[in-house]
Amino acid sequence: MEKTINERLLDFLSASPTAFHACRSLAERLTGEGYAELREQEEWELVPGGKYFVRRNGSALIAFRIPAGGVRGFLMTAAHSDSPSFKIKEHAAVPTAGMYTRLNVEKYGGMLCSSWMDRPLSVAGRVAVREGGGVSMKLVDVDRDLLLIPNVAIHMDRSANDGKKFDPNVDMLPLFGDAGAEKAFDELIARQAGAKPEDVVAADLFLYPRTPGAVWGAKGEYLSSPRLDDLQCVFGCAEGFLRAGETRETPLLCVFDNEEVGSGTKQGADSSFLEDVLGRIAEGTGADLRRCLARSFLVSADNAHAVHPNHPEYADRNDRPEMNKGIVVKYNANQRYTTDALSAAVFEELCRRAEVPTQRFTNRADLAGGSTLGHISTAHVSVDSVDIGLAQLAMHSAYETAGAMDTEYLIRASEAFYRCSLERGENGIEIN
Ligand code: CO
Repeated sequence: MEKTINERLLDFLSASPTAFHACRSLAERLTGEGYAELREQEEWELVPGGKYFVRRNGSALIAFRIPAGGVRGFLMTAAHSDSPSFKIKEHAAVPTAGMYTRLNVEKYGGMLCSSWMDRPLSVAGRVAVREGGGVSMKLVDVDRDLLLIPNVAIHMDRSANDGKKFDPNVDMLPLFGDAGAEKAFDELIARQAGAKPEDVVAADLFLYPRTPGAVWGAKGEYLSSPRLDDLQCVFGCAEGFLRAGETRETPLLCVFDNEEVGSGTKQGADSSFLEDVLGRIAEGTGADLRRCLARSFLVSADNAHAVHPNHPEYADRNDRPEMNKGIVVKYNANQRYTTDALSAAVFEELCRRAEVPTQRFTNRADLAGGSTLGHISTAHVSVDSVDIGLAQLAMHSAYETAGAMDTEYLIRASEAFYRCSLERGENGIEIN
């Protein structure tokens, strides 16, 4: 039997414990669909009708197609491959109290610490292995219940329910084993990489929660999983990108890393990655880059906050996103979200035609709110842009919750977006 969208989403989420694995999952999917992988250090030969993708650092990916009729404008979605986690420090083993071995970690991004406690965790990432005349990068995923960060019992900390403060250097170290386990972690990672411990030179390793995703609720209306922010949008945009097939404009699927730590890396939205790829597409097809950019549009897709059942007061008084009620268009007067009247109108009109409901999000005027990659990306590649997302609860928890119907809405919206053609006139925009 063919899998449902939510089953495929949950498969993608569990195959993608880190940004490296998410990009590998995507690369495998694209290769299976006939896309050729390009490498930035090589020459690109782009042909009309060609389907391509390129990875940077193994953790960011841009896929695109060259339309048969040539390159005129770029229709792009952008989402991010990373999620908040704990990164394992270089010297991992911490002998503790004469009876335990813990692992030394630091925070990656801004997670809800309490949600990482008392649940099985594992480790995944990439390892640099000395091989031949250099180093090879190997993806590893221990893929079993391996670690746990235990809470302190209520009897020992009576204030635990009164606003607990978590010190990452004290409270968040995962328990790995007994006093005899000191060398076992390095050995385990070397084994996972198919190498001898002495040949493992360095590693980027992260904790991830083992709790599998689930669809639940009175009518199965909710879906929970680790890393919904932002792999739900990565999955939805990718499916829409593939479903769109041959299009008039040049479609790009952009997945950036390091959004959770400000995007300021070579593989983040605040890098040259997108402008490099667009420049090479223009060069390789004889298109005028500046004219193409003036005809382009970016949909920045990152999840949004649904009204919280126990704390509805945190939502704006009028704009109150609800799960399963469609795509959230995000507004912010200070342009932390790129949405403006023109970009919102274009996107909402495309959704209306595709019979995809939309709703709106703004922060309460007295709450700072979050940020995402749209405004960072458009500072490099300055095009019309809208910020959207799917409504969810408990953003940055180890186990987030979203609407079971909303992924399909995003797929349909991004398909409609990739299939459209936008003609700028003197005083507006023609949407075809
Ligand atoms: Co996000």
